[in-house]
Amino acid sequence: MFDKADITKEFAPLGVEPPYLGFGLGLRPQHYSEILQGNWPIDWFEILSENFMVPGGRPLAMLEKIRARYPIVMHGVSLSIASTAPLDMNYLASLKALAHRVQPKWVSDHLCWTGVHGVNLHDLLPIPYTHEALQHIVSRVHKVQELLGRAIALENVSTYIRFQHSEMTECEFVSELTRRTGCWLLLDISNVFVNAFNHGFDASACLNGIPADRVVQFHIAGHSDMGSHIIDTHDHPVRDEVWALYRSALKRFGPVSTMIERDEDIPPLAEVVAELSHARSIAEEVFGADRILAGRRQ
Ligand SMILES: [Fe+2]
Repeated sequence: MFDKADITKEFAPLGVEPPYLGFGLGLRPQHYSEILQGNWPIDWFEILSENFMVPGGRPLAMLEKIRARYPIVMHGVSLSIASTAPLDMNYLASLKALAHRVQPKWVSDHLCWTGVHGVNLHDLLPIPYTHEALQHIVSRVHKVQELLGRAIALENVSTYIRFQHSEMTECEFVSELTRRTGCWLLLDISNVFVNAFNHGFDASACLNGIPADRVVQFHIAGHSDMGSHIIDTHDHPVRDEVWALYRSALKRFGPVSTMIERDEDIPPLAEVVAELSHARSIAEEVFGADRILAGRRQ
């Protein structure tokens, strides 16, 4: 199952470090018109890659207009990097073609699997944090990066079960993955918060274990507190406890391109922009407005 040459390969950079973009939003069709008609304090947009893997139509037409005004990053949900099913070469070819068309600042997907044996479960499924799984995913990340000709970014997902077979923590697993592959990390602050609550670990200790120079993007989203557990629903404003963790993450990682995710009960653009402005104000409190404008490496 494993290609030993790939397993032993260490970090081999593919391309330069992505730029710091500031404060962005997930692009949602409900906001197309408002975005194009207004002059919003939004620095960049993240698109859902699969929504634009089409030969034409309104989504691509709107994207072209928005791309002319804002930097774009691509975010996928179908890579299934952790699956034992073969990599989907048709999907990867479409992804590469879209990246060629859009010229995103980076391309990301999730550290998860979404199906096997030809079945797509349309969910971001958890993985056991074992050395065997790590070697398997390292091998596949190398292949994807070689196919795309660029380092990808991978996002930590929210999880609701743990595997008794796990041999390391999630954060140790993620850190080792980026060390061995040179992939970037899309750190979902809300998912760290959700998993820390659901599985009883210290979210700040987790953040402190992740290499600061590999994180290129933060996600922040609202969740649903069910009492005994938390679900990452993306249907509420960001809660205070996640803002507090975001503040800690900024202190740990420096200025990182930050994005609000909202996927259900999507409000008018102004409401999401207000949340984004709150993220910006926290960063300005932590670093000062001048450093935020200058970027993370200043
Ligand atoms: Fe996310």
